[in-house]
Amino acid sequence: MIILGIETSCDETAVSIVEGKGKQIKILSNIVSSQIDIHKKYGGVVPEVAARHHIINILPVLNEALEQAGISRDQASKEIKAIAVVAGPGLITSLMIGLETAKTLAYVWNLPIVPINHIEGHIYANFINNDQIKFPSMTLTVSGGHTMLVLMKKHLQYQTIGNTLDDAAGEAFDKAAKLMDLGYPGGPIVSTQAEKYQGKKNKAFDKSQTKNSKVQEIVFPRPMLNKPNFNFSFSGIKTALLYQIQKDKDWSKKIPEYCYEYQQAIIDSLIGKTIKASEKYKVKTIMLAGGVSANKKLRADFQTRVATKLPKAKLMIPDLKYTTDNAAMIATAGYFKYKYGKKIDWSKLKVDPNLNL
Ligand code: KG4
Ligand code: ZN
Repeated sequence: MIILGIETSCDETAVSIVEGKGKQIKILSNIVSSQIDIHKKYGGVVPEVAARHHIINILPVLNEALEQAGISRDQASKEIKAIAVVAGPGLITSLMIGLETAKTLAYVWNLPIVPINHIEGHIYANFINNDQIKFPSMTLTVSGGHTMLVLMKKHLQYQTIGNTLDDAAGEAFDKAAKLMDLGYPGGPIVSTQAEKYQGKKNKAFDKSQTKNSKVQEIVFPRPMLNKPNFNFSFSGIKTALLYQIQKDKDWSKKIPEYCYEYQQAIIDSLIGKTIKASEKYKVKTIMLAGGVSANKKLRADFQTRVATKLPKAKLMIPDLKYTTDNAAMIATAGYFKYKYGKKIDWSKLKVDPNLNL
């Protein structure tokens, strides 16, 4: 069964065509047009600019996706079974471009629309080229806007058991890069800088470090780690970074060390909570999802920690190209939703920038 997926929730215009058979998902095409270079100079995504570029990009991206999948326009209505599109959460005007495109295609080709939650799409990136996922599963979804632990007992059923109380993990990376004037988006930049650090690692955090104390070692707190819940908090790490660089006149000479320690504080919090939650709910599969799961150190540390702490659980990490925003994950979620979900009257479908999972 062939599904076409559309993703326009933020600053990537993406269309993908996938073929699903039983539990197998094959990617026929996966086209992503990123606007990072356009938004870089503003230090973040400008919603109006993003929406305008989606309008410019969506049809060329759609054409390329069809062409690469070997589907001609006159055959599309026969070969494609349904159109999966992100309905939220995201930027409202960006989401609207994707949904209106989906509605137009659905009307012209006489096909159903399957609305997808963006987070659901990130989770389903794990099902691409992977038929080994067993429920119950725990997915750590870490992106620019979300940090969530999602328990699934079966397909399409999500229980959010942990969330961030303030900033998302990706946002914490982006804000750190901004504080140190390193550029946008922060995640890949902080992680590249961190890889250059060769000095002393695994230093213990000294709680006596406050705004007014002198610079001691560069270390950051691991907030919430010992709290009896599965929530996260990252704004304290960001504030700790601000205080440290304000006190340290040589901070700009130590950027790799700052990045390494900052990244490690985020990673330890994410892994600590995911392991705890996975133990409690006795999950068979642990999955990572979202842009931050592109982080090499996070991926490596997860492998080691799951292997030692929960050797019976299987850890799944999507291919790098399916971690950041793409439409293959949306089409994949669409395949399972078309197969197992309820059919809807798509003519009434509206985008929801705050859509819950
Ligand atoms: O999932 P995504 O592409 O978009 C949202 O749904 O938000 O995630 C983007 C986020 C950004 O905050 C970016 O800095 C972060 O993912 N990110 C990374 C890395 N690559 C992207 N964070 C840490 N390490 C990376 N290698
Ligand atoms: Zn995303």
